Amino acid sequence: MVANGNVIGLIGSPNRDGRTNQLVSAALKGAARSGAPTELIQMADHVVAACKDCMPWVCKENLKCTYEDEAFEFLSQKVLNCGALILGTPVYWWDTSGLVKYLILKMFRVYASSAPLQGLSAFGIAIAGGTGNGLVSGLRPVYHFFQMMQMRAIEPLPVTRFNFDIALERAEERGEEIAKMALQRAPFKGLEERLLWYDALPYLGLSRAEERRLLADYTVQGLRSNDGAPLALGLARADELAAAGKSLDALVEITQVYDAGAKAYDAKDSKK
Ligand SMILES: Cc1cc2nc3c(=O)[nH]c(=O)nc-3n(C[C@H](O)[C@H](O)[C@H](O)COP(=O)(O)O)c2cc1C
Repeated sequence: MVANGNVIGLIGSPNRDGRTNQLVSAALKGAARSGAPTELIQMADHVVAACKDCMPWVCKENLKCTYEDEAFEFLSQKVLNCGALILGTPVYWWDTSGLVKYLILKMFRVYASSAPLQGLSAFGIAIAGGTGNGLVSGLRPVYHFFQMMQMRAIEPLPVTRFNFDIALERAEERGEEIAKMALQRAPFKGLEERLLWYDALPYLGLSRAEERRLLADYTVQGLRSNDGAPLALGLARADELAAAGKSLDALVEITQVYDAGAKAYDAKDSKK
C-alpha cells in the first residue's frame, strides 16, 4: 500500500503551547528535514466523545461511529490518510491524557477489526513534566494503540523535565526517521512478527521498579558530572542490591537518588 507521505503530529494535551507541543513540533521539524509535508493538529480543538460500546456492533462494518462525532470524524480521517503518525501525550496520573484515550478507544471500536492502518509508521512521545512518574506507563496505552491497529511503530520517547532538552533532539531525529518510512506502509507478515516487533521496542517492558530507576537516572544525567557522580554511585549500589535479590532495598536506594537528583536539578534550574 502506498501512502501519501505526509507526517501528522497530534498534540494530546489541553495545554496548546506546552511541552507536548514542543516535542511533537520538534519531531515534525525533523520530518520536514526529510522533505515530508507535515501537519500539526491540536487534539484540544477536536475532543472525541466517549465510545458508548453500543450493540449491535455495526460501526466495525460501516466504518463510522453511529453517533454524531465531528471530532472523531476529523481525527480518524487525518490518521487514516496520513503517511506517518506522531502522537504526543502529556502524562496525567502516570497515564495518557483523556484526549488521547478517548480517540484510541473509538478507533479500536470502529477500525481495529478491519485494520486499515496496517503497517503505518508511528512514533509516540509521553511527557511526564511534573515528578516524572509515569514516563513509561503513560506511553504504554499509545503503543498498545499502535500495536492493536497493526502499525509499525518506532522507538518510543519517554520524557521528563529532567531529560527535556536532550529529548527535543531525540524527537527531531525520530521525526526524520519516521518521515523516511512515510511513503510506503510496511505491514507485518503476521501476528507473531508484530508481537515480537513490539516486544523488541525499548522501555515498554520495564517493570515499575525499572521505570523508577530510569527516572532516577534521568535526574542524574541532567546534572553536571561532579554533582551527578555520587548519585550515579547510588544507582550502582541499587543495581547490586537488586542483583542480590534485595528488591525493596534497591528501590529505596533508587528513591534516595531520585530525591537528591531532582532537588539538585531544581536548584540548578532556578539559577538559569
Ligand atoms: C491532571 C494532571 C496530572 C498529572 N500527572 C502527572 C504525573 O503522573 N506525572 C508527572 O510527571 N507529571 C504529571 N502532571 C504534569 C504534566 O505531565 C506536565 O505538566 C506536562 O508538562 C504536561 O504537558 P503540557 O506541558 O503539554 O501541558 C500532571 C498534570 C496534570 C494537569
